[in-house]
Amino acid sequence: MKGPTLKGKKIILKPLVIRQAENYMRWLKDSEVTKFLSNDFSSLNLKREKEFIKKSNRNKTNLRWAIYTKTGAHIGNTGLHEIDRKKNLKASWGVMIGEKSYWGQGLGTDVLKTVLKYCFGKLKLNRVELGVFKFNPRGIRCYKKCGFKIEGIKKQSVRKNGKFVDEIIMGITKDDYNKLNKKYVRQK
Ligand SMILES: CC(C)(COP(=O)(O)OP(=O)(O)OC[C@H]1O[C@@H](n2cnc3c(N)ncnc32)[C@H](O)[C@@H]1OP(=O)(O)O)[C@@H](O)C(=O)NCCC(=O)NCCS
Repeated sequence: MKGPTLKGKKIILKPLVIRQAENYMRWLKDSEVTKFLSNDFSSLNLKREKEFIKKSNRNKTNLRWAIYTKTGAHIGNTGLHEIDRKKNLKASWGVMIGEKSYWGQGLGTDVLKTVLKYCFGKLKLNRVELGVFKFNPRGIRCYKKCGFKIEGIKKQSVRKNGKFVDEIIMGITKDDYNKLNKKYVRQK
């Protein structure tokens, strides 16, 4: 499904549109970006990427957004996957800031806080989870700052460049999210 426009403090999340495909292609062909992602993008081309955007906007259990800075630069994408709003009230979350010059400026943290507010507010989920490689300390730090906790490790879960790598599973529940946000309000 197309994600609705969501505004954070530093970023704006907007629906995916076909004209963003060229940026996605560029980022998904950059090994410094893709080394942190679990999918294999080696067979990707512009036509397939455009098809992917169209399909993704029709998919009922996914919500994807393009990430823009407040000054209008398109810097990445983010999405909720396997959204289950009927039984288990959970979803998994993924992100890619493809423009490397924007890494480490708090934008990923703002994206995640914005998506979590939507998950526990509008979507009324009870849990959000994600997978991250242990060689991605920037990602892990960003997720911990937003309240995610490490729940376990899936040993040799993903094959990256011919090698099996471990995937750290992190999650946040609605209870933990609410506790954290009450603390923020008290601190202000
Ligand atoms: C992971 C990602 C979303 C994080 O977003 P970001 O905007 O770069 O991260 P933020 O600036 O919000 O937060 C990063 C935190 O990690 C810290 N950090 C950066 N490099 C670090 C390192 N090598 N070790 C430990 N902490 C590190 C930063 O100092 C910051 O913490 P602080 O605010 O306490 O100082 C983004 O870097 C990205 O998309 N990377 C490429 C693709 C990717 O990794 N996707 C996620 C796959 S799970």
